[in-house]
Amino acid sequence: MKTFLWIFSLLLGAVACTTAPKDQPGDTDDSFSFVFMTDIHLKPELGAPEGFQMAIDSVNAIHPDFVITGGDLVDDALYATHGRADTLYNLYKKMAKGFDMPVHNTMGNHEIYGYGVKPALDQNHPEYGEKMFEKRIGKRYYSFDHKGWHFMILDGIEKGDVNLGTYIGKVDDQQLQWIKKDLEDVYPQTPIVVVTHIPLVSIMPQITRGPLYGDNHGSLITNQQEVLAPFRFMNLKLVLQGHLHALEDNNLMGRTHFITGGAVCGKWWKTPDDSPLQEGFLKIDIKGDDFTWSYVDYGWETGIVSP
Ligand SMILES: [Fe+2]
Repeated sequence: MKTFLWIFSLLLGAVACTTAPKDQPGDTDDSFSFVFMTDIHLKPELGAPEGFQMAIDSVNAIHPDFVITGGDLVDDALYATHGRADTLYNLYKKMAKGFDMPVHNTMGNHEIYGYGVKPALDQNHPEYGEKMFEKRIGKRYYSFDHKGWHFMILDGIEKGDVNLGTYIGKVDDQQLQWIKKDLEDVYPQTPIVVVTHIPLVSIMPQITRGPLYGDNHGSLITNQQEVLAPFRFMNLKLVLQGHLHALEDNNLMGRTHFITGGAVCGKWWKTPDDSPLQEGFLKIDIKGDDFTWSYVDYGWETGIVSP
């Protein structure tokens, strides 16, 4: 980071991504779009299923090539009984079948089972921790290619402790090795999108807690520099983030955008209808190796007015 100038800008708007297969970096005349929808926090209460269905219908009307979710799909497994977590996972899987296009999921802290359960859960439980997500949804980190763009989905959540809290933002050593290995097959010119629930870069802690606030164990990826180091000479165009229920576009030297993508649930399904940030998701339009983004308010209203 010492050789970088960080240029931050807050925008309300849009993103992008594209490419040819790994063997044809940047060689594409295709345009495509995808949707990034984060922080759904699906549960039976507060009309969340109706709201999520409205979001699904809105996505299907847009016809993106695929959807990437940004984690916190359910609310919640982290502090819940197994029965509640089971119900919520089943609800999500059932409703997600309503998407007309492929869905690539990212794990959030609220998908992790047992870290916050009291009394403490037996860690030998077959679905303890990340295993619940892996068993029911899919891999916690992986990559895929689409029309010349390379997408890398990360798991940025580790177990905390009595000092750091229930969980912390961190990418484990196994993944750090995988990132390097995965990038060996990617041309330096290939546009790359990284997805992580907990942000790698955000100005939100500074805005909400002040410039001297430093206890970001649960808000940001604490080993961010280790994660980003392998990308230094790669074409990292876009980092898509969730967790903070905020919309921001941090533009690093016009080279890499760190975008936190709002929230499908807004403020946990209690968003005042006059709030500046409404329930929504990102639509990202790719052309060549460039992108634009827009935040789609899919229309959910709570009837709540700001005090
Ligand atoms: Fe969330």
